[in-house]
Amino acid sequence: MPQLHQSPFCSRQLRWTRNVTAAILILFLILYHIPDRTWRGANLLVFGAHWERFPRLNGYYAGLSNLVPISQHVEEGVQDLWSKTANTDLLSEDDIRTRIIAYNPYPHNNTRRCFLDDKGTVDIPALYSYQGIPQYHPEPLHGSYDALGLRDDICFDRYGRLGAYGLDENATIQEHHSPDGSITSTPRSKSINWQSIDWSAAQHRCHDTNKHRFVQSLSSGDHRSTPRQALVLRTWTGYHYTPHVMMNIRALISELSLGSGAEYDVHLLVHVKNNSAQFWESQDLYREILHANVPKEFRGLATFWSESQMEMVYPGPFLNNTLNKSGKSIHGVYRSSHMPLQYFAQNNAQYEHFWNWEMDMRYTGHYYELLDRLGHWANAQPRHGLWERSAKYYLEKMHGTWKQFSDLVHQENPNTIFGPVKFPSSQALKFQRASWLSSSVEDDKDADLITLSPLFDPNESGWYFDTDITGYPSDSPLPPRRVAIIAASRMSRGLLHLMHEETLQYRRSMWTEMWAPSIALHYGLKAVYAPHPVYYDRKWPVSTADKIFNAGKHGSSGGNAFSVFGAFEHNHLGSTWYHNARFAGELWRSWLGRGSRHGMFSQQGVDRMCLRSMLLHTVKYE
Ligand SMILES: *[C@@H]1O[C@H](CO)[C@@H](O)[C@H](O)[C@H]1NC(C)=O
Ligand SMILES: *[C@@H]1O[C@H](CO)[C@@H](O)[C@H](O)[C@H]1NC(C)=O
Ligand SMILES: *[C@@H]1O[C@H](CO)[C@@H](O)[C@H](O)[C@H]1NC(C)=O
Ligand SMILES: *[C@@H]1O[C@H](CO)[C@@H](O)[C@H](O)[C@H]1NC(C)=O
Ligand SMILES: *[C@@H]1O[C@H](CO)[C@@H](O)[C@H](O)[C@H]1NC(C)=O
Repeated sequence: MPQLHQSPFCSRQLRWTRNVTAAILILFLILYHIPDRTWRGANLLVFGAHWERFPRLNGYYAGLSNLVPISQHVEEGVQDLWSKTANTDLLSEDDIRTRIIAYNPYPHNNTRRCFLDDKGTVDIPALYSYQGIPQYHPEPLHGSYDALGLRDDICFDRYGRLGAYGLDENATIQEHHSPDGSITSTPRSKSINWQSIDWSAAQHRCHDTNKHRFVQSLSSGDHRSTPRQALVLRTWTGYHYTPHVMMNIRALISELSLGSGAEYDVHLLVHVKNNSAQFWESQDLYREILHANVPKEFRGLATFWSESQMEMVYPGPFLNNTLNKSGKSIHGVYRSSHMPLQYFAQNNAQYEHFWNWEMDMRYTGHYYELLDRLGHWANAQPRHGLWERSAKYYLEKMHGTWKQFSDLVHQENPNTIFGPVKFPSSQALKFQRASWLSSSVEDDKDADLITLSPLFDPNESGWYFDTDITGYPSDSPLPPRRVAIIAASRMSRGLLHLMHEETLQYRRSMWTEMWAPSIALHYGLKAVYAPHPVYYDRKWPVSTADKIFNAGKHGSSGGNAFSVFGAFEHNHLGSTWYHNARFAGELWRSWLGRGSRHGMFSQQGVDRMCLRSMLLHTVKYE
């Protein structure tokens, strides 16, 4: 191209164009070689996530003065409804007071009353809720009150929910005396001297008083005794028990154990991080660690474990580890938090079911209502198509009633999983004769596993720990697997026993959130995802939510590259329930009156928030 050289202008322009083209080409080549994950991460950072463009929901922050009966309730619309209706029809303090109801979710009438103290003078703290919910309170994006039998026509403010357990005792009194009378005080029991309460002793007394409920009555034929359940709170040495954490533990014990007449016991399973501390050999050492790490009120609830103890309980060797992405030991709490629970269940066979519970979870409603309704609902679920239903998010607005949803899933999945799943090196047959298995195909059998997130197939889903599998033959395909994010779940004694045997005899394990669901799959146990209501900070179009959250294979929420448990995990950030959900903590703190102000709502006095029952994770601080 000699003629170009004749014009300096042309040549300069050409060089510039050429350089830019080359730069774009090089950039393209670089980007092309960056792993998908990084590329998507950078993309999110620069352009933001698609859901960040949905309008924010402000209806959560409305106060008690906006209460309406459920029949008049309208969820928040896309437009700013607040500007139109602001300051109309607000309830007065007296109106609000008439809507307070003492909250009692217990269905039984054969329980004997339990007390916090041994003289029988300190009553169980009472909870108060409000009839109705604030106008424009949003609806959950997935999950359902109706399907699970949870109440959706009441709400809880912070004093009604937590006042009984010690929330802002002094602050309430001050507010009560404020001259403009801007606080609606809930009726409350006289304050309790918490220092004097021994919760473990209270649980034992309550069980003794109610023993009649837990013995099999031989006279009345097939009458089953009430099964007892343990709620096992996972804590560790060095854990800081803030006043809010203390209130949450008191709530768990009062509502689940004492209020129900001992249907549940609450335990603290304490991870002793010092691996040299042989607490099982020395009572003095045990006591020393206990006193230094567990508040007096709860000491009797504690059971210790440590990673070095687990090395003795499950000695290994653990071979054929497919992948060790976390670089942690197989006995470590990150990869195998199920090990100490398995061992705990071996030593506490008086319980039929064990709820694995985490310290950074909160519930705005009543714990008994939640766990009891979830349990009954899960036990009543027909087994046919259960794995498939449990893999999919239930969007009530899109899918209709639970029955319609079930029919839809059935159409989408003509081939359902039923009974033990066959694969090379399966050990299921060896256990077939166990008595608790023989009845497991009946529909009304108690659920062996209840999870609080979908049970998805991680194979090829991009979920980070998919192949953290140990002890299966390395020359065969990987065993089939299931995962539910967040290890909070209910496990039956039978399931935990199988997990224990697989670990002890066959030296097998998997990443903690995958282990219990996969063992349930391998042995044909009854596993259910209970679709509890989950809220989002923004207004998602429901069809978009369905496309994204149910993007997996066969209509399920996992098993392919578009899974919301792999590269598209960020979609959960604005939710009230996920391992890293940001909104959960924000919403909880606002409800406590500790968040930042939201528009016209001060979150104080009659403006304080009233939320429907919702389960929150994670709440890292208060
Ligand atoms: C107690 O429950 C039983 C069985 O549900 C019922 O028949 C009975 O009427 C109840 N008694 C009271 C006092 O509510
Ligand atoms: C760990 O436990 C050992 C044995 O009890 C003790 O000597 C040591 O001081 C402990 N370490 C820490 C950091 O507490
Ligand atoms: C996983 O990695 C850690 C750190 O490298 C190592 O100590 C551990 O033994 C590994 N575990 C297995 C089962 O490979
Ligand atoms: C490891 O894999 C090999 C080859 O498949 C198999 O023979 C062996 O039994 C496996 N070991 C364990 C502990 O699973
Ligand atoms: C995982 O997916 C691959 C590719 O689709 C398939 O070959 C393999 O059988 C699957 N494994 C399991 C356990 O589902």
